[in-house]
Amino acid sequence: MIQDLFKKIVSHSKKYGFIFQSSEIYDGLSAVYDYGPYGVELKNNIKEYWFKSMVRMHGNIVGIDSAIFMHPKTWKASGHVDAFNDPLIDNKDSKKRYRADVLVEDYIAKIEAKINKEVTKAKKRFGEDFDEIHFRATNQRVLNNIKKIEDINTKMSNALNTGKLENLKLLIEELGIADPVSGSKNWTDVRQFNLMFNTQLGNISGEEGKLYLRPETAQGIFVNFLNVQKTTRQKIPFGIAQIGKAFRNEIVARQFIFRMREFEQMEMQYFVRPGEEMKWYDYWKTQRMKWHKSLGTDDSKLRYHDHDNLAHYANAAVDIEFEFPFGFKELEGIHSRTDFDLKSHSELSGKKLQYFDPEINENYIPYVVETSIGVDRMFLAVMTNAYTEEIVPDASGNESERVVLKIPAALAPIKATVLPLVKNKEELTDKAKEVFNKLKPFVNTQYDEKDAIGRRYRRQDAIGTPYCITVDFDTLENDTVTVRERDSLKQDRMHIDELVPYIQKHTDLSSLLSKLTD
Ligand code: GAP
Repeated sequence: MIQDLFKKIVSHSKKYGFIFQSSEIYDGLSAVYDYGPYGVELKNNIKEYWFKSMVRMHGNIVGIDSAIFMHPKTWKASGHVDAFNDPLIDNKDSKKRYRADVLVEDYIAKIEAKINKEVTKAKKRFGEDFDEIHFRATNQRVLNNIKKIEDINTKMSNALNTGKLENLKLLIEELGIADPVSGSKNWTDVRQFNLMFNTQLGNISGEEGKLYLRPETAQGIFVNFLNVQKTTRQKIPFGIAQIGKAFRNEIVARQFIFRMREFEQMEMQYFVRPGEEMKWYDYWKTQRMKWHKSLGTDDSKLRYHDHDNLAHYANAAVDIEFEFPFGFKELEGIHSRTDFDLKSHSELSGKKLQYFDPEINENYIPYVVETSIGVDRMFLAVMTNAYTEEIVPDASGNESERVVLKIPAALAPIKATVLPLVKNKEELTDKAKEVFNKLKPFVNTQYDEKDAIGRRYRRQDAIGTPYCITVDFDTLENDTVTVRERDSLKQDRMHIDELVPYIQKHTDLSSLLSKLTD
């Protein structure tokens, strides 16, 4: 049923021009996707909302747009050359390659499913009196399974943190994990696989000319720390925000745009006084959750998840997880990155990446708190929240089923569509085009005269257009139109001159931004 929703979102995204498989005519390129006409609008709106919420809403955060290619030493300093690896394991019989940690996580997910089944069964048995928290804390079968999960997690963390990959293989064997494709348990040793794509600079051969496609946008911010601080005269604490492409040669690339090889990130590095990083870490944890909730996402669909395994640069890390159709998964990461990056870049480049703090009269390398979210994952979260199938009255009052994307109006690809009631009356189509021309400089508007009005409404519902404006015979008399609201289906009659302010008021990003003020 839930997997069903996922399949529906994937096919809806293609059918209505949101997302296409890359190079589809050549049977596609795995884990690479293109955004179609409505997809690009929605994606741009997500990016604009994020950028404005960071830069416009904070006097001390500025934006940059750094290049994808960077000096190869960048990735040595950042630790990505040596440590940006996934543990990889091959099945000798099926010749399939897997992430060893994902095989173990999938095994854990099965135990979690058992726990949930137990809870659902008990819920049915006890009805309204059921106390889930108490049940989870006292039921012996649930407790045994929780203990099992904890033991597995501890063993996996130990193996990953100490780099003893032979212990990860032992764990896979101990748990009896089989290849999901062939059922075979004939595994190779686990080995590290670097996730960075590389290419060659035109005029330099060999290792020296080796360039990487950036695996995160953050490093473009770190290497520009001094440029930005000096040119904008920022005082600590201050932040630098950036949106851009990142590339990772993911071993397990699946679940549509959730895990891609080419994707986009929205990252903000917040530079703080050493010792104050945990205060700012907590601040950004709260702020970012507020941002997600401002989009109307139900509280039950968002949660924090503290990292058990910290990345090589972090002293604290938490994910904001969203309940995707395939379960709770990371949507955004908030990391306390210490002074790791600026310090390494200082050492390798020989340039002092320091800040003189006039308040305490000291020079220091700032500490950094990072917020990092994938645009594509956010897109999938918006689609998951928005996709709705429901029974509603049609134009003639009969019940009919519709698929509607209830995208927050400020993010919707198209804000309004102008529809002449019928297309074969020139006075009506001329008037509708006049209304369309009046709206289009102010809000993203479409004009549609093809098919019966009911079908046109459904088409707009399917792409999430908040307002349909119908031009009918009364319009010719008194310059009024009907405005149909997507979710409530309420129809209001209003004068043409009221349309721009009305639609702007209800679809402008400011309606979301104003929810973020402290
Ligand atoms: N600079 C820190 C950093 O890159 P990360 O947790 O590896 O941290 C941050 O990535 C965010 O980027 C994730 O929370 C996720 O939303 C997105 N992301 C990471 N890998 C991705 C992939 N292969 N496909 C799509 N989004 C991805």
